Amino acid sequence: MASGKGSNFATLLKCTEKNIINAKVCALITNNSDSGAFKIAKDNQIRTYLLNHKNYNTREELDYKIIENLSKYSLDLILMAGWMRIVTNILIDKYKNRIINIHPSLLPSFKGFDAIQQALDAKVKITGCTYHIVVPDVDSGKILAQAAVPINSIDNHHSLKERIQAAEHKLLPYAISIAGNAIREG
Ligand code: GRF
Repeated sequence: MASGKGSNFATLLKCTEKNIINAKVCALITNNSDSGAFKIAKDNQIRTYLLNHKNYNTREELDYKIIENLSKYSLDLILMAGWMRIVTNILIDKYKNRIINIHPSLLPSFKGFDAIQQALDAKVKITGCTYHIVVPDVDSGKILAQAAVPINSIDNHHSLKERIQAAEHKLLPYAISIAGNAIREG
């Protein structure tokens, strides 16, 4: 599930193609036809479901539609790779402990909107990225993997985001393998 540039989605595809991750990406859910993720999916012949949130009256309605589409597949994991909508219990309960989110901070620090700016404003010296299980409380589920990224005195939002995203891409195969192991172990 992705709404934006799609660099993590592209990394996921690359890792599965190269067997760095032993998995198949069966579909992309996006809410944004202008997103990089949408284009990447098309270029890679990945089945894409475009669900514009503006066409649904409630978050729950959108989640039901997501489930309707994902039910066509036998899914192990769902990766929220920059999915910019809050999901509800409808989706979370259907795929309990199998939805993973990527957040650009070392949780539990800097939950919520623009974690990168939050870290810059707080003047911390280290931030990073977190892969975690999605639960109803935003950015609060079990942490699967984290990587630290130092903040330099000359950093701005752009430069810090670039390094955090590089850390996200590097960590992605490990985070997916940890999540896969957790499922296998029940
Ligand atoms: C990632 O940096 C992630 O931390 C946040 O959204 C961003 C998505 O980037 N949740 P991209 O679309 O994968 O490039």
